[in-house]
Amino acid sequence: MRMRPNSLGSGKGRNRIVGGLLAWAAVAATIAPTATARADDAKPFRLCADPTNLPFSSDSPSQPGFYVEIGRALAQALGEPIAYDWYKSYFGKRTVRVTLLGKQCDAMIGLPRSEDFMGPAVIFSNSFAKEGYALVAARGLALGGVDDLKGRRVAVQYASTPQNLLATRDDIQKVTVLSPEEGMQALDQGKADVAFIWGPVAGWLNKTAYNDRYQIQLTEGEGLSWDAAIGFAKTSAELRDRVDAILPQLQGTIAGLAVKYGLPAGQPVRFGAAQAVPAGTTTGTGPGASVVQVANGVATEAKGDASALNAATVGAGKEIFNGTCAHCHGPDAIQSERKIDLRLLRHRYGDDMRDTFWKTVHDGRPAKGMPAWSEVFTDEQFDSIYSFLLTVQAESND
Ligand code: HEC
Repeated sequence: MRMRPNSLGSGKGRNRIVGGLLAWAAVAATIAPTATARADDAKPFRLCADPTNLPFSSDSPSQPGFYVEIGRALAQALGEPIAYDWYKSYFGKRTVRVTLLGKQCDAMIGLPRSEDFMGPAVIFSNSFAKEGYALVAARGLALGGVDDLKGRRVAVQYASTPQNLLATRDDIQKVTVLSPEEGMQALDQGKADVAFIWGPVAGWLNKTAYNDRYQIQLTEGEGLSWDAAIGFAKTSAELRDRVDAILPQLQGTIAGLAVKYGLPAGQPVRFGAAQAVPAGTTTGTGPGASVVQVANGVATEAKGDASALNAATVGAGKEIFNGTCAHCHGPDAIQSERKIDLRLLRHRYGDDMRDTFWKTVHDGRPAKGMPAWSEVFTDEQFDSIYSFLLTVQAESND
């Protein structure tokens, strides 16, 4: 599955990925690896992949992509032939539901390693790479963090995490682009000094179209990068354990493939302490942030559903929000694009705010790009997201 900026359900990123790790490790520890199943006949290792998602996957035999080549190496180490289920994905979780959970394949390479990402139905291998947004610039330009972007023209993709992250920085000039391709062009044409765009595509284009002219630095911080892992249906714990046992010996192969496909490597540039509060799903979440938000919420919540504001509920809602909704609506709902700025819900709908929220999250607005979530979350979880959103509503002055 791809981890394109706008296709990931949990990107978590957006930030989010660390949460399930301990719980996951505990579960894994209780499952005794069974060596016996290896004596398999010729049952293939079936991989779900997108045929048109380079640098990650493609159905071209000469240029199969990072994930597909990892899949081949894995199948070989497992002693099984490989088979593919090609599926053109356009939205992460839906694809996973149809393919992996629909038993059309055994594994999906490149899912964000987080229980938030469809856990517990989906389980994960250990992480094999880190993927996310990257800073692309002329070689030699020293970029160690957000302050090094001051005074520069920075290309950011519309409605992406970097755009949200830089939204409040008046000292950084944003050049809005609609795709990573356009971000690279803006650099190439001298319209931007830096492109803060989706790393895998930037790296791939740098390699294939720009003669490796640019330096590409992975970033980390709220919503900026993910630990990529291999996802399995929860009924495949035995296979997952065999894969985990093999992964360490494939690290060299994987590192070579990362270079082959131009994926950004090296120490990530850390972003975000200033404005992106750590997502609830990262281990870095302190209680402090929630408390402040709750206080704000109470201040703007004098009338109406103040009773819903309970710190634990708000915290849970915020966690889900940052895990699942933030890559479109912005981390902590901070979003510069008015149309999808959920801090304006009260302003927009007044007393109908709750009804509108409820209907929209259950049914989605598929034609407009808002997915339906009723199969993904319980009503209690929707309530907690709503409680969180109440704490971030803009002052209504109409
Ligand atoms: C793939 C991107 C995407 C994701 C993920 C997403 N949304 Fe949306 N959402 C949208 C878009 C686009 C709209 C605007 C639709 C329109 O123009 O009517 C929207 C609209 C909404 C609205 C109505 C806003 C209004 O002012 O009418 C709510 C409420 C909402 N989303 C909540 C959520 C919640 C909660 C989540 C997470 C569970 C979420 N969204 C995840 C894209 C997304």
